[in-house]
Amino acid sequence: MELIIYKPSQVLTFENGALKVLSDVDIVIKDGKIAQVKKLSVLPKNIKIISAENCVVLPGFVDSHTHLVFKSLRSKEFFMRLDGISYEQILAQGGGILSTVKEVRETDENELYEIARERILSMLKWGTTTVEIKSGYGLSWKHELKMLRVINRLRKDLKDKITVIATFMGAHAIPPNRSLREYTKELIEVMIPQVSKKKLAQFVDVFCEKFVFPPKQAEKILTTAKKYGLIIKIHADEIENSGGTELAGRLGCISAEHLNYATLTGLRLLKKKQVVCVLLPGTTFFLKSRKKPPVQEMRKLGLPIALASDFNPGTCPIYQMPIIITLGCLLYGLSPQEALCAATINGAKALGLNHKIGLISEGYDADLIILNTSNYKELFFQLGTNLIRSVIKQGRVVLSN
Ligand code: NIG
Ligand code: FE
Repeated sequence: MELIIYKPSQVLTFENGALKVLSDVDIVIKDGKIAQVKKLSVLPKNIKIISAENCVVLPGFVDSHTHLVFKSLRSKEFFMRLDGISYEQILAQGGGILSTVKEVRETDENELYEIARERILSMLKWGTTTVEIKSGYGLSWKHELKMLRVINRLRKDLKDKITVIATFMGAHAIPPNRSLREYTKELIEVMIPQVSKKKLAQFVDVFCEKFVFPPKQAEKILTTAKKYGLIIKIHADEIENSGGTELAGRLGCISAEHLNYATLTGLRLLKKKQVVCVLLPGTTFFLKSRKKPPVQEMRKLGLPIALASDFNPGTCPIYQMPIIITLGCLLYGLSPQEALCAATINGAKALGLNHKIGLISEGYDADLIILNTSNYKELFFQLGTNLIRSVIKQGRVVLSN
């Protein structure tokens, strides 16, 4: 199986974290991988050719942080927050994550699967070719298992179109009528061993905040996960500073996510282990958070920055990565070059896949987006307009808008 993407106006890739715009190359794809990125003097015969004249080609987006398995969006809370009630107050009243938990527990597996499947196909239309999905709306083994089964079914059924990565996030909130101590014990003694034994997820994540899982409990959960051979991630310092970033550095998480309240000490510890900073501007936007992640310091330290959607029913209804990269620039002060790198190769890094996806380079998977514009800068400016002409997954065109 061979394919040539012929005469694109621009091909975007990265070298040592810097954007490279190639303007006079074609892309040859063989067996699902990028075989050559160079100008072809003669076009070989009997090979499928896609003309990309006046188009931009870039790596497919890697959305490295989502919570997309749920039933309905919690629009009601958006209006409560506009009235001045905080995210934390809503959760304390049994709303927030806990109201999604109630709904997910009452919804049958097939229905959750169908709803999530539609969401993923919508993401594909906006150029996402790899998506991470966290469990965490079950909060009991029965219902976490149901969520993980849904995620793994999606992974298998959609693998020709999009790569789905599973993260176990039983530590997303304390379930009703359980204590922090009791539930942490169950996560450590029952759930994590099962996730590992049954190979239900590759990653484990914890919502580390003083009012959810404080660092002490988060540490117990994450060290257990590591012991069971799972790769660890953490939601750190999103709502307030609680030491989650420091913990991520000390334990050597693959990524630390949110980081709005991260301290310089925390970032220095991340640097020692090259932890990826996964930033989620869609959530900052929807929660009207005044505090932004310390991007300047991250940049100075040379920390890898990824951007992801955080698509979830309460704090971010945005699943379109092109919107996220624009928000990354507008809200966090990323340069467009940094934002593109963050949404592709650095997203791949946050999932341990940077040897395989996120670049247009020989040997990499041919996960590509073709844009209906000759200048990539339009992608940032035309917020809300879908500029994606086609999406290619492992060398096969899987979507044409
Ligand atoms: O990343 N912070 C925790 N989890 C999500 C929100 C989930 C929810 O509110 O349902 C987040 O923002
Ligand atoms: Fe999240």
